[in-house]
Amino acid sequence: MTWAAGVVRPAEQADLPAVARWDAEIFGADAWSTALLTPLLAGELTSGELTVAVDPDGALLGYAVLSAVGADAELQRIAVLPVARRRGIAGLLLAAGRDRVRRAGATRVLLEVRADNAAALALYAAEGFVEIGRRPRYYRDGAAALILEHPVSGPDVTMEA
Ligand SMILES: CC(C)(COP(=O)(O)OP(=O)(O)OC[C@H]1O[C@@H](n2cnc3c(N)ncnc32)[C@H](O)[C@@H]1OP(=O)(O)O)[C@@H](O)C(=O)NCCC(=O)NCCS
Repeated sequence: MTWAAGVVRPAEQADLPAVARWDAEIFGADAWSTALLTPLLAGELTSGELTVAVDPDGALLGYAVLSAVGADAELQRIAVLPVARRRGIAGLLLAAGRDRVRRAGATRVLLEVRADNAAALALYAAEGFVEIGRRPRYYRDGAAALILEHPVSGPDVTMEA
């Protein structure tokens, strides 16, 4: 998917160092290393696929990981670099991801989000996710997790190969 300031496409090996570096920056102790990210290049939705948003020079702007088994897809990760936020990039990553899992037969996207992650909750609400469950004290620091759901539907969005 191409937009005015870049492209959303499946990740390649060369993207992994930047994704791992930013994952560490954004998620700290929960970050995914290049070793954990590498299997996500295989194009196997059952174990997860990494999609990146890059600017016209190929620099990383954001990334997402989605998996799908049968009817249920799961958004495992989504992040946008701080300098690139509020430009609609997470929305583009979600649109591309929804299209990808719909073509694979999924009928809904599920995700878990910290109840205190205001930006993510605002993003998911704007995208039409609804809360279907809540897990109190789910995270190590005692924060609750919300489980959100989005039906997979809507117009085609085609990712570049
Ligand atoms: C959550 C995150 C992915 C949003 O990325 P983004 O590219 O800035 O989001 P978008 O620009 O696509 O936002 C779309 C809409 O979501 C809502 N939104 C997103 N971030 C918001 C914020 N910080 N405050 C309020 N609303 C917000 C708005 O409605 C926004 O539309 P608008 O800018 O026209 O008002 C980004 O803040 C991020 O990477 N956070 C750290 C990682 C994280 O928490 N990931 C999710 C949990 S795994």
